[in-house]
Amino acid sequence: HAQEATPQWRPVYHFTAPKNWLNDPNGLIYIDGVYHLYYQHNPFENKWGHMSWGHATSKDLINWKHLPVAIPEIEKKDTTTWIFSGSAVLDEHNSSGFGKNGKAPIVAIYTADQPKQQKESQFIAFSNDGGLTYTNYSGNPVVDIQKKDFRDPSVIWLEDQHKWLMTVAVPAEHKVQFYSSENLKNWEMLSEFGNQGDTRKIWECPSLTPLYVDGDPAKKKWLLMVSSGNQDAATGMQYFTGDFDGKTFTNDNKPESQLFVDYGKTFYAAIPYNHLPDNRQMMIGWLMPFETPTSPWRGQMSIPRDLQLKTTASGIRLFQQPSAAISTYLHKLPAAKKLTLKAQTINSKALELSSSKGFNTNTNWVDAEFTIGTATDFGFKIAEQVVVGYNVQRNELYIRDGKDVQHVGIPPANNKIRLQVLVDKSSVEVFVNDGEKVLTTLIFPDKAATGLAVFAENGDVQLNTLKAWDLSK
Ligand code: FRU
Repeated sequence: HAQEATPQWRPVYHFTAPKNWLNDPNGLIYIDGVYHLYYQHNPFENKWGHMSWGHATSKDLINWKHLPVAIPEIEKKDTTTWIFSGSAVLDEHNSSGFGKNGKAPIVAIYTADQPKQQKESQFIAFSNDGGLTYTNYSGNPVVDIQKKDFRDPSVIWLEDQHKWLMTVAVPAEHKVQFYSSENLKNWEMLSEFGNQGDTRKIWECPSLTPLYVDGDPAKKKWLLMVSSGNQDAATGMQYFTGDFDGKTFTNDNKPESQLFVDYGKTFYAAIPYNHLPDNRQMMIGWLMPFETPTSPWRGQMSIPRDLQLKTTASGIRLFQQPSAAISTYLHKLPAAKKLTLKAQTINSKALELSSSKGFNTNTNWVDAEFTIGTATDFGFKIAEQVVVGYNVQRNELYIRDGKDVQHVGIPPANNKIRLQVLVDKSSVEVFVNDGEKVLTTLIFPDKAATGLAVFAENGDVQLNTLKAWDLSK
């Protein structure tokens, strides 16, 4: 990376653009063993603008190959078209007719944002070279309801109906619309869903995804995710679970009930991967930077997260795990970069994990299980200034960074708390109890502030297992 001004904050195993601004992940699709990641990108400056689709590919979701901009902004005499968020599909039956030489085309479905016309509509573009370059369809727009705000189409293939399904947001009206199509060009509106859950902020980047509850194919449910405000009115994502009959989405829960994907301030605009095998569902989100001080890049992605719906005492809930696909990578790492601790009691003296052999680079992946003891608080101290703690009295996981505290309630399971803590220079993602709750935040530690320690306060806690990887390169 040329001219790194803030190398101490450049993530190592989370995705960033080589330089300049990045926001939402777009067109996530897995084809022939390769994960494609397109993203909202300003190719020219380190701030939002000139929106285009940046592009990278990876085989392991950790090492990414950076590719040229796949869909650039379109400048015409009276119209500027910015390429806003959307999705990509592999058109295996060549329903669109865009295929060439018997090869299935990749079709991108995105929002054309036209600031001069104060208009957003849905465009399609196709690729016959494996997703490197795209040609815009001459019949664009394919969906247009004459609105200023109408965006972020997420398209999936419905095998039983042999049709495409689009979920798209009408942000200011706190609703999504569903459309179906046989050829990706002509779309018919099916229904709308909205004004339920959290409606304090605009709705963006929706997606509708089928999942088997508890992994049981007899128990299919649909997960509707929407980027919107969270409980503290900070930025975040909510979700609904329900049924989809091919036309209408029906919420499992009361209209006023609110469920959130991530309880931190930064997780936003996540969309699932298309075309994964074996009914796997996995998403990537953007760790929204607001005014982050990084340079020459700004904005980073979350770790890819596997999605599951599980039955809990309060109903069907979303569980997230760092993608299982990444464990292959972790297990191949050199031995010195891995640490396994035996069961032991942690008391008032914090247990330092950092040493010359590793864990002193703020690029750690930790998986630990605790049994609650007499300590009121326990967890990890990161980069000298950040505390990832569990408070026993409040049944609450928190991240404290100076005066900033973010938290989420979660009771222990059989008196145990599992913490998967992913630290990567300027981000911390915490998955609690197998990902029943997730809290993600950005951190900006001083250059010299590194390290990782296990702590307990006002008593002791039993550390049952701890595995940790230092992922610095
Ligand atoms: C979400 C969002 C989308 C839009 C894109 C523009 O972060 O506002 O709704 O398509 O960013 O960059």
